[in-house]
Amino acid sequence: MKKSKELKILAVVAFFTLVTYWGVEPYAHSVMHKHVEFKDFKYEDLKPIKAKGNAENGKALAAACIGCHSIESQNMPAPMDPVTASATYGVNPPDLSNIAAIYDEKYLANFLKNPVHAAMVEHKFKNGKVYPMPPMAMDDQSAADLVAYFKSIAPKEITPKEAYESACGRCHEMRYAKWTQIGEVPKTKKDIKTGMDPEYLKFEQKLAQYKSNLVKYMGKLPPDLSIIVRARSEHFLKTFIEDPQAQLPGTAMPRVGLNKEGYELVYKRLEEVGDPSKPKREAVGPWVLGYMFIFTFLAYLWYKAQWKGLKDD
Ligand code: HEC
Ligand code: HEC
Repeated sequence: MKKSKELKILAVVAFFTLVTYWGVEPYAHSVMHKHVEFKDFKYEDLKPIKAKGNAENGKALAAACIGCHSIESQNMPAPMDPVTASATYGVNPPDLSNIAAIYDEKYLANFLKNPVHAAMVEHKFKNGKVYPMPPMAMDDQSAADLVAYFKSIAPKEITPKEAYESACGRCHEMRYAKWTQIGEVPKTKKDIKTGMDPEYLKFEQKLAQYKSNLVKYMGKLPPDLSIIVRARSEHFLKTFIEDPQAQLPGTAMPRVGLNKEGYELVYKRLEEVGDPSKPKREAVGPWVLGYMFIFTFLAYLWYKAQWKGLKDD
């Protein structure tokens, strides 16, 4: 066969393969899902706070937070256990030790002034239904002071696990990582005769109570996020976390207000739990490419050898 004919056949096959791929993937996808633009966690809809914060004043104001929240890094324990808190507020208020490291500053200040607005849950809290956290800052100055205080206590290093637990852990389980909304699943020490562990059963009972309070508050149980990285694309996840209403209009999931670093940590956690073999797979990648490269080269040499001495006509 002529060499030029071979090339033509290859071009036709490549063309139809690409068209089919484009029709199935990018095109069909864009028809079925409206595209949501990623806005880089800038929260442009919220008002910038111009006041300069004073951490000392903020510390005094933060005394009001510990009626509901713990600030564990400052030795301020939670006023109640997660289950009791969920019976009171619908959900366990998160620990505040690292909020200024993982939340956007502007978001945080706006949240303290008007939580329902910042979290985009106005559609849920109307007609007399009140959000469990009242506005905590009366003006820009006190909001800035509180943010300055939380920045002053924010740790330099936060692990992906800590970021996840602070930002998402009160609502979302991750069973593959033994995480539940009320903390880590205790190791079971099963009784040999009964096959049961009373401590473990107590834990499961408490968890069931917490979940039933959470369902009352949210309208449904937030899904377990153990393998969400396999079900949803990274683009979906970041745009959904940045603005849940844009992806699922009317959803009960609040806007959490993460900054870029906070999001990256949370995503890393989702990935290390949902796709633990990724680092291994990536390490193998260059070897596979090298192998294919060598084989392509050998195939080329063989092809050359076959055609050697034959006239191309
Ligand atoms: C009356 C109880 C109460 C008080 C007082 C309170 N909070 Fe909260 N806070 C909550 C509850 C409940 C939630 C969780 C609400 C939810 O997730 O729907 C929450 C959530 C938060 C969040 C998470 C926001 C997000 O986007 O996920 C932050 C940050 C926060 N509070 C900071 C503070 C600070 C700072 C103070 C003090 C200035 C404070 N809270 C005072 C009850 C309270
Ligand atoms: C106050 C509770 C609450 C918090 C905090 C929360 N979520 Fe959610 N989340 C929900 C609820 C409720 C749903 C179910 C939404 C629905 O179906 O309308 C949900 C759904 C989701 C979904 C599924 C969306 C889909 O359709 O596939 C993802 C992913 C998700 N949340 C990620 C997160 C991440 C990541 C965080 C932390 C940064 C977080 N959530 C924090 C309540 C919460």
